Amino acid sequence: MCGIIGYIGSRQATPILIGGLSKLEYRGYDSAGVSVWNEGASRVVRCRGKLSGLVEKLTKEPAPGTMGIGHTRWATHGRPSDENSHPHKVGPISVIHNGIIENHLALRQELSAAGAKFSSETDTEIFAHLVAHALTAGAPDLTTAVRRSLLKVRGSYAFVVMSDKEPGTLVAAKNSSPLVVGLGDGENYVASDVTAILSETRRVIFVEEGEMVVVKRDGVTLMDFEGKVRTREPKTITWSAVQAEKGGFKHYMLKEIHEQPRAVADTLVGRIDLEHDDVSLDGIELDVSKIKRVIFIACGTSYHASMVGEFLVEGLARIPVDVDFASEFRYRDPIVGPGDLVVAVSQSGETLDTMEAIREAKKKGAQVFAISNVVEASIPRLADHAFYTHAGPEIGVASTKAFTTQLIGIALLAIHLGRRTGSLSKERARELLAELIALPNKMRDIVESGAQIQAIARRYGNATGFLFLGRGSQFPIALEGALKLKEISYIHAEGYAAGEMKHGPIALIDEHLPVVVLVPRGPSYEKTVSNLAEVRARQGKVIAIATRGDNEIGGHSDDVIVIPDTALELQPILTVLPLQMLSYYVADFKGTDIDQPRNLAKSVTVE
Ligand code: M6R
Repeated sequence: MCGIIGYIGSRQATPILIGGLSKLEYRGYDSAGVSVWNEGASRVVRCRGKLSGLVEKLTKEPAPGTMGIGHTRWATHGRPSDENSHPHKVGPISVIHNGIIENHLALRQELSAAGAKFSSETDTEIFAHLVAHALTAGAPDLTTAVRRSLLKVRGSYAFVVMSDKEPGTLVAAKNSSPLVVGLGDGENYVASDVTAILSETRRVIFVEEGEMVVVKRDGVTLMDFEGKVRTREPKTITWSAVQAEKGGFKHYMLKEIHEQPRAVADTLVGRIDLEHDDVSLDGIELDVSKIKRVIFIACGTSYHASMVGEFLVEGLARIPVDVDFASEFRYRDPIVGPGDLVVAVSQSGETLDTMEAIREAKKKGAQVFAISNVVEASIPRLADHAFYTHAGPEIGVASTKAFTTQLIGIALLAIHLGRRTGSLSKERARELLAELIALPNKMRDIVESGAQIQAIARRYGNATGFLFLGRGSQFPIALEGALKLKEISYIHAEGYAAGEMKHGPIALIDEHLPVVVLVPRGPSYEKTVSNLAEVRARQGKVIAIATRGDNEIGGHSDDVIVIPDTALELQPILTVLPLQMLSYYVADFKGTDIDQPRNLAKSVTVE
């Protein structure tokens, strides 16, 4: 997830680009850059780190000119560095990109064989080479060159391309990543979201999937990838700047809940190998003959993802798994050594407890595999292997899309291990891969049905406590549901293994206690239904999360929220969504500060 902006007109481009990027920094902040055209050539200025670094650089090396593009990056391919910052320039072509080019490795090889020299590790530079190559190969103009290049790339993208040789034209294209055109008077804009251009214009055209747009000073032309012109009436944006930053959602948390289908799809890009019924961990090859045990270490929500990991790795790879709080691990002189693969899970990649636990594991000879959402953060740098989720920056303190993408990362790791231990057959792997690919649409189905969950939240929003129950891999989801509710609504909540309820917490149940029961289809279904009946027999209010098509569950529950069916191993990725939404709507009902709940910080860098 990166922020992109382009400007063409008669004013100086750089201040407009920087103004726009300052509104987009929440989309990525590991590097920033601009390319501005002036008198026959464009000048690229870019730098690793926050936008303020670029601004400082531009004061020393100004980039005057009336046409330009700018970018703020959230690294996916290639670490944050000056070289990997956008725009990427190849010959006369400057390119900025938001998204992931899925077939980047094959294209890089093809272009290298044809003599291309690369100066970055990014997938984006490939597109600059493709466009430059298309022009040398005879494309009559930039628009045609971009169109021909688009035919070669697979993945998610919004590109903006500029050529030194064709001043007066910006060409942009969209597939899955957001793109909007802003209309001015004798000047026009293009950006990843309206926030970036709202201070300049409120008249916009949203670019749709599979569309290109040619932006000139005096007008814009929309077309499909075949060059067929399309027309669309501009819209006038009435959102405030703050609303626009949240994509029209009331809070970042709600926006991030809705971003999950996209985040999961991005995390899967380039990692599914259908040809070999296997996964690719970005070139990491783990030697399973040396792994006697897997130990997950993490905190908070990442700890709950790790608990699901126990089911995935033991189930698919048949390797024994331990899961530990990072904050406890190093203080109990853990028995850990060369036969252990320690999997450190952290959204921020900066959690101090997790870092210290990694140091302890490494000191004792274990190899460490990190799953992080932030490229080149301290934890992945400390680990032997780093695997990145591609959720994009998570702004809301309560983790949502980082959690579901961690589950994807862990599922991929489990499949990788399972295929290598031989315990996961090709056939089962193929089924699981197909289910993974189908997940984003199923997730969309859930996040788009918020009205029912909002109504339930209003009904129970005044409760003073909640209980969450689940069995098997739904138990960590029960814990996660309770954590989410506590964090943002300040209502006391407990997560329990459903079978444990009768050993104590059942004493809490009365007509005032809402009990959320995770009861999707599966081997523990009947046992969980019995627990649910025990709650109802004591007048507890039951909110069941069940599989669509379950006609029995309604008879045992006060409310049923249905989720689509999926493979048993992947059910937690779906069942957690209604719980995130329930917490969100309860907190919204209570009017708490959802994105910045009291006493909490996004990145916990103290022990
Ligand atoms: O960045 P990390 O994943 O290492 O953070 C761990 C926890 O601090 C974090 O998951 C925390 O529990 C979240 N606020 C949960 O929503």
